[in-house]
Amino acid sequence: MTLKKFFSSGHVQLDIIGVGLLVILGLSAWHIARGFTWYSVLPLIFIFYAAFRIVFELTINRANVPTLATGFAGRGKIADILKREASLRMDRGYTVIDLGSGRGELTRHIAKTIPTARVIGIELARIPYLQSSWMQRWLGPKNLSYQRCDFWPYDCSEIDAVVFYLSRPFAERAGEKLYRELKPGGTVISHTFPLLAPWEPVEVVQFRTPFKEVIYVYRKA
Ligand SMILES: C[S@@+](CC[C@H](N)C(=O)[O-])C[C@H]1O[C@@H](n2cnc3c(N)ncnc32)[C@H](O)[C@@H]1O
Repeated sequence: MTLKKFFSSGHVQLDIIGVGLLVILGLSAWHIARGFTWYSVLPLIFIFYAAFRIVFELTINRANVPTLATGFAGRGKIADILKREASLRMDRGYTVIDLGSGRGELTRHIAKTIPTARVIGIELARIPYLQSSWMQRWLGPKNLSYQRCDFWPYDCSEIDAVVFYLSRPFAERAGEKLYRELKPGGTVISHTFPLLAPWEPVEVVQFRTPFKEVIYVYRKA
């Protein structure tokens, strides 16, 4: 991902976070340059983390979508929608997949909210994939698993619900793929970016975090 792509990904939060991080980075560096004290440890940790995240997004992350996680409020809303959907089909197993699961925050929340569901996270970028799978190994839950692969060739025909938080062009392309592959009744949840026709949302959930966020819910006819 290039600097231009980073700031034009369609994620308003990312633009603000990117600018905010750069400002804090500069202020912290200035603070430390004036003389190291133990008070400098916290900004130093922050600087290293911020620098790592920025370098990762701009160089190592080849997926062309930032590894920005769905926030607490969004995770709760998505998990509640899926719990409701799953409760309608408890006669058989329910499988949820996150296309581009990042560091796994959303998948962990879904798997804990619906312990009877099987939750799969697909992630291409190695570092967030390793973070998510190590967390799962140490802390569970058992109904959650991760695969490191490209989600475009991944066959979603046996999946009951698909969630994603991508960029606008990727969300639209994922919509086309899922329209071909998903079985009737299958659920698609897209964070921030709507899908193109023939998809029609069955539910649009808007909330503030304080950013204005939108979740689009679709059901395959
Ligand atoms: C904005 S993050 C969303 C993370 C998580 N789904 C959430 O909502 O918290 C998007 C993730 O999609 C991943 N990604 C983008 N294209 C991908 C592809 N073709 N295959 C697998 N992962 C991909 C990126 O590496 C990034 O971690």
